[in-house]
Amino acid sequence: MMPRILAFAGSTRRESFNKKLVAIAAQGAREAGTEVTLIDLKDFPLPLFDQDLEAEQGMPENGKKLKKLFIDHDGLLIASPEYNSSFPAVLKNAIDWVSRPAPGEPSLVAFRGKVATLMSASPGALGGLRGLVHVRSILGNLGVIVLPDQIAVAQAHEAFNPDGTLKDPKRQARIEGLGRTLAEFLAKLKA
Ligand SMILES: Cc1cc2nc3c(=O)[nH]c(=O)nc-3n(C[C@H](O)[C@H](O)[C@H](O)COP(=O)(O)O)c2cc1C
Repeated sequence: MMPRILAFAGSTRRESFNKKLVAIAAQGAREAGTEVTLIDLKDFPLPLFDQDLEAEQGMPENGKKLKKLFIDHDGLLIASPEYNSSFPAVLKNAIDWVSRPAPGEPSLVAFRGKVATLMSASPGALGGLRGLVHVRSILGNLGVIVLPDQIAVAQAHEAFNPDGTLKDPKRQARIEGLGRTLAEFLAKLKA
C-alpha cells in the first residue's frame, strides 16, 4: 500500500509562512509518489485541553477527526512557527487532544511508529529553529521517529513569492527534498 503523509502547520494564521512552507514539502512528497493530506488546523478548532471538560463531555468532534487523520497516515510533515522560543500552543493543544486514548485503545495509537519531518519559518534570524527542538523532543517521547533533516527558513517575510513558492530556487528544492526524503523513508519501511 502507498504510504500516506499528513501535512500541516502549527499556525492558524491565514497568511502563515509555515502553511506555505509545509505545502512546498507536501508537493515534494507527492512527486515522490506518496499520498499527502494537507490540512489546516484552523479547520479543527479545539477548546484548550481541560481534563474536567474531557471527563464531562468527552473528546470534541474536531479532536476525534484530527486523531483519526493521524491514525490513518504513516508520516507527518509539520512546519511550526516559534513563539517565545518554543512552538505555539495551538500545536501543543492539538497534540494533547490527539494523544488521549479512547476506552480500550492502545496507548498513543495516533503517534507510535509514525515518521515525522519538521521545518519552520520565521521573520527572525533563526527561522524558528528553537521551537523545533521542543517539537522534536515531545514527538520522540510520544513514539514518533523524527527524521534528522530539518530546515528553518529565516527572514520568512522576504522569502516567498506571491504564489507561495520560495524566491530562492535552491531553497525551494531543499524544502521539496524534505518531503521527498520522508516519502522515500516511508516507502522503504512499507516495502
Ligand atoms: C506570541 C508570539 C511570540 C513569538 N515569538 C517568536 C520567537 O520566539 N521567535 C521567532 O523567531 N519569532 C517569534 N514570533 C514571530 C513569529 O515567527 C511570526 O509571527 C510568524 O509569522 C509566525 O508564523 P506563521 O507566519 O506561520 O503564522 C512570535 C510571534 C508571536 C505571535
